[in-house]
Amino acid sequence: MQHPTPIDHQIKLNTKRYIVSKTDANGIIEYANDYFVEISGYTEAELIGKPHSIVRHPDMPKVVFKMMWDRINKAQNIMAVVKNLAKDGSYYWVVTEFEPKLDPITNEIISHTAFRKAAPARSYRYYGTYLCQTHRDRKRWWSRGK
Ligand SMILES: Cc1cc2nc3c(=O)[nH]c(=O)nc-3n(C[C@H](O)[C@H](O)[C@H](O)COP(=O)(O)O)c2cc1C
Repeated sequence: MQHPTPIDHQIKLNTKRYIVSKTDANGIIEYANDYFVEISGYTEAELIGKPHSIVRHPDMPKVVFKMMWDRINKAQNIMAVVKNLAKDGSYYWVVTEFEPKLDPITNEIISHTAFRKAAPARSYRYYGTYLCQTHRDRKRWWSRGK
């Protein structure tokens, strides 16, 4: 599938809805909720089985994903503000958290589930990307806007 050409149009997200996806340990999409389908512009069938980089926006620095994978591969959470690319080239900003599922016997990661909310404008206005890793910051951020 051809990667869309970015256009200068931001999709405004409903602050009350979550974009949820689940991947295998390698980031291949296994589940996409209705809101992910709606906002990304892809059908469920187009998303399932694809790498999550299907919504990767070229503006996003590689280092963000490196940090993200370094953490989630160790089953550690990270909160990442990410600019994503929809199928029509539009973009949307989300704040994402991850939840790993571990094999109870081997303790290996079986899957990752990502929960995303609309990112507050102040989180991407100046720098574009904001990462925070502490539990306290995570709680504080997550409880905003509810
Ligand atoms: C559960 C999960 C959710 C992810 N969500 C996104 C996402 O919303 N946007 C994104 O660009 N990458 C997301 N990624 C990271 C991608 O797998 C990938 O590392 C990233 O898009 C960079 O792609 P690249 O390594 O091909 O440059 C997610 C990974 C996982 C495991």
